[in-house]
Amino acid sequence: MMTSISDNCCRCKKCEQICPVSAVDIDNNNISDDCIKCYHCGAICPQKAINAEYLPGTVTQNNISPYDFELLMQQRRSHRKFSNRKVAPEILTEFINHLRFSPTASNLQTLNFTVVTNQDKIQEVNNLTIDTLTGAYNSLNAFTKPLIRILLGQHRLVQMEQSKRKFLNKKAVNKQMITYNAPAMIIVHSPTSPVGMPCHDANIWTGMAILYAELLDLCTCINGYIVNAAKRNNKVKRTLNIDQSETVYAALLIGYPHNKFENTVGRNLPLIKTID
Ligand SMILES: Cc1cc2nc3c(=O)[nH]c(=O)nc-3n(C[C@H](O)[C@H](O)[C@H](O)COP(=O)(O)O)c2cc1C
Repeated sequence: MMTSISDNCCRCKKCEQICPVSAVDIDNNNISDDCIKCYHCGAICPQKAINAEYLPGTVTQNNISPYDFELLMQQRRSHRKFSNRKVAPEILTEFINHLRFSPTASNLQTLNFTVVTNQDKIQEVNNLTIDTLTGAYNSLNAFTKPLIRILLGQHRLVQMEQSKRKFLNKKAVNKQMITYNAPAMIIVHSPTSPVGMPCHDANIWTGMAILYAELLDLCTCINGYIVNAAKRNNKVKRTLNIDQSETVYAALLIGYPHNKFENTVGRNLPLIKTID
């Protein structure tokens, strides 16, 4: 749908001033092809003169205090043990629909989602990810190490060896080390394209999703291993019926919590440089 201006425009030009791509020209009653359909114009228009999708009501002050938000962030934890309670696919569809307001670069909105509640499928992804990453870690060996040292440096080599050791140690004791018997999994993917920033879009979406899930009494664990395995092995996408032309950018395990975390624990203060 092209963005357009209707006759009830009062010519205040607020839309023209707010447009991030300078696409609005009220004097000539025109919105150029540069429009990214973010509808800042519609959101600011006192007349609703832009053909945006207007949700009911007007924007009001929300009731979430900064303190509430801080608590939400501090108390959220990654969950690796889930209760037996299933999560209905409809709940996850609604969850993802509500999260559509998460921003995307240039408002491209290219993210697609695959919701998996089938336990066999989740198990398959668990095993495939373990096999794929075991293969990748095993390629770090006596022959490749000297080359890696030359190409990437000693520090990087040590990091890679540590990751390998941690992965193989965890695998030895936990055959569910990827999906932790989660009742559901959301895979975030997007057509692979040189335009836009789908990786960032997916990670921002994930950040929103892990907090929103808490408010619904759901719990989550972000999963980088699956993303890594999907990059290396096309079988991961095939297993999940994701087209090979797409890239997997995020994976989220989701369910109801088995554990209740009693305490809020600290984090390092970030290094902040101020330039004023
Ligand atoms: C990008 C990213 C990837 C992650 N991948 C995994 C993963 O593959 N497996 C896992 O158990 N946890 C994973 N985590 C969870 C982190 O280990 C966890 O966030 C971190 O230890 C801090 O704990 P918290 O989330 O409870 O605050 C990932 C987190 C992020 C942000």
